[in-house]
Amino acid sequence: MKLVIVGHIGLNEDRTPHGSAVSPGGAAYACARGAAVLDATQVGVVATVGDDLSLAPIRNLGVNLLGVRVARGRSPRFYIDQHPDGRRTFSVDFGIATEAAPDSFPQAYRLTRHVHLATAPPEQQLAWLVHLRRVLPRATISVDMFEHFAERDGALCRQVCRGADLIFMNEEEQRLLFGGHEHPPVPAVVKFGPEGAGYCQDGQLTRVRATREEPVDTTHAGEILAGVFLSLRAYGLPRQDCLAHAVRAAAAKVTQFGVNGDALTATLDRIRAEVTAAA
Ligand SMILES: Nc1ncnc2c1ncn2[C@@H]1O[C@H](COP(=O)(O)OP(=O)(O)OP(=O)(O)O)[C@@H](O)[C@H]1O
Ligand SMILES: [Mg+2]
Repeated sequence: MKLVIVGHIGLNEDRTPHGSAVSPGGAAYACARGAAVLDATQVGVVATVGDDLSLAPIRNLGVNLLGVRVARGRSPRFYIDQHPDGRRTFSVDFGIATEAAPDSFPQAYRLTRHVHLATAPPEQQLAWLVHLRRVLPRATISVDMFEHFAERDGALCRQVCRGADLIFMNEEEQRLLFGGHEHPPVPAVVKFGPEGAGYCQDGQLTRVRATREEPVDTTHAGEILAGVFLSLRAYGLPRQDCLAHAVRAAAAKVTQFGVNGDALTATLDRIRAEVTAAA
């Protein structure tokens, strides 16, 4: 595997000013959707789902599912309300996925070069981080933050960030976590909503502007961005090119509910065609 994504797979219930929808989601699912932009067979996913969930959506991505474990019980269900001012409120029923399950990390993934800990409660991310540093001493590890957890448990989120090789966070998460605390010497991909994203290293920010879209549903735009960015990085593309493609994919995502809209599919197809033609 070139890239392994650890996180949750379940259903999202998104309520936005444009309506509401229930769709396949969870941060690991959305991130895998972005990461499948190139060779999906080189992307592994580690998650525990309940036996009530159809695995068809994750199977359809073509990613490797050795790390997806099915347990008896309810799959995670995420409820996200997006308010007209851009704020969002969040609640979750984790079902059978209340704790990190490090023993579910397949032996076959132990040679992967990079592991991404998708958005999850910081205590789960920390348990994974401690375990993976021990069993995969050579892999690099990235982590994604979430404002809901940054607000609730900033100290634990900062501990996760300090232990990572790359941080993904939006502006609000950066303010909550590092507004009054020293930023660890770890590079970060910082997301600015309709303004795009930037790569921040040693206090230097290199930005990529987005083509601003009227947002219908922004949930998981950050996961799509992370998935595309990491997949293209694992393929060896220069960092700025990876970020530019990732920002393009994320912009297509916000125009439709969920992560299976045809605008995102078409954009991922175009990125794949461009990257493989240039190789
Ligand atoms: N209105 C928009 N138009 C174009 N691109 C957008 C818009 N909103 C978001 N994006 C793109 O999506 C990326 C991620 O969005 P955002 O900044 O909301 O991250 P996030 O809060 O981590 O998302 P999430 O946690 O819901 O996955 C942005 O960096 C930007 O590239
Ligand atoms: Mg996010």
